[in-house]
Amino acid sequence: MEQNMRVAIVYASVTGNTKELAEAIQEKFQQRLVGAELFTVKDFPLKHISAYDGLVLGTFTWSNGWSDGCIPRVMRRIFSHLEYVEADHLATAVFGTGDRFFPDFCAAVDEFRDMLYVQSDLAVTMKVELRPQSDDMVKCERFADCLIEKIKGQSPTVVTR
Ligand SMILES: Cc1cc2nc3c(=O)[nH]c(=O)nc-3n(C[C@H](O)[C@H](O)[C@H](O)COP(=O)(O)O)c2cc1C
Repeated sequence: MEQNMRVAIVYASVTGNTKELAEAIQEKFQQRLVGAELFTVKDFPLKHISAYDGLVLGTFTWSNGWSDGCIPRVMRRIFSHLEYVEADHLATAVFGTGDRFFPDFCAAVDEFRDMLYVQSDLAVTMKVELRPQSDDMVKCERFADCLIEKIKGQSPTVVTR
């Protein structure tokens, strides 16, 4: 294992796109010999965050009934937790899937990015349209590498638009 790093990948998914992306990212960490555990956000115990060197969040973007471009309700609890917890030294990363049909493409990723940039040591963000395709795998590799470098204390923040 790479310096015994522990990474948690915590995601939400309704139709499976974000789950598929989360699994692809997990594979990239594993290929780099980094222990990456996958959790749905409902199953992730918030009190265990401090046990990890890196926290990866995966979210889709949804509607709240009035407007689109929202964080899904199921991701709100971890968002609020990270807004208030002491996480300056936690390396974080956020990815998401969305649909360019909507004006606010992957807006939930942007919302997490802004909060994590202030509250934690944000390494990287990534947006993918709907189901991940084979050419997204290079992005997943770079995504994993950026977090690993951040955990090692070697990299600046990389943001994807
Ligand atoms: C009601 C509804 C609202 C949505 N709003 C947005 C949006 O504002 N921006 C966006 O990029 N995608 C939006 N999407 C698309 C989803 O984020 C996209 O299909 C995503 O890949 C679903 O993830 P999942 O398969 O992991 O559940 C919306 C989809 C639905 C059904």
